[in-house]
Amino acid sequence: MAKETIRVEITLESNLKHVELIEVIAQTVAKQCGFGEDGLHEILMAVHECAINAICHGNKEDLQKQVGLSLSVHPDRLEIRVRDQGKSFNPNDVPDPLDKENLMKPAGRGILLIQAFMDEFRVGRCENWGNEVIMTKRLPSPSQPEKGGVGREHQ
Ligand SMILES: Nc1ncnc2c1ncn2[C@@H]1O[C@H](COP(=O)(O)OP(=O)(O)OP(=O)(O)O)[C@@H](O)[C@H]1O
Ligand SMILES: [Mg+2]
Repeated sequence: MAKETIRVEITLESNLKHVELIEVIAQTVAKQCGFGEDGLHEILMAVHECAINAICHGNKEDLQKQVGLSLSVHPDRLEIRVRDQGKSFNPNDVPDPLDKENLMKPAGRGILLIQAFMDEFRVGRCENWGNEVIMTKRLPSPSQPEKGGVGREHQ
């Protein structure tokens, strides 16, 4: 039988002031998963970049729009989805921040950071929404918890 999946879902007004709340919720769930200091920091950075992208690029800071956060804890991974109500974008069309001509630009590194910190990053379209960024990170092994992490009890 499949193991139980924990799921947390919230929808918020697309306002930059809510980025902190999104981060706190993601951190709280990630802590429960047994991530240690490094893993928690990486998840925090990825969620921070993704939420700002959804609000600024996706929803164009339109307060009438919404941003969605969904966290699913699977036996082997934490899956985080961030939704916006904007037009579709393809991350493959985004300029590579590591190209020589982009190295000095002050922006354009959010997706690169997310890809570096998470095991999976993809973008799709979500019915009744717009873009849905899906990020996953493998859970630390219960027998080898990360530094500063607490072992998961029910694995
Ligand atoms: N949710 C989104 N909706 C629409 N376009 C997006 C979305 N997320 C990212 N993008 C596009 O991808 C580009 C790259 O995003 P990325 O986060 O890497 O850099 P940035 O947001 O431009 O700068 P920063 O380094 O400050 O994050 C953005 O400039 C934007 O054009
Ligand atoms: Mg960004």
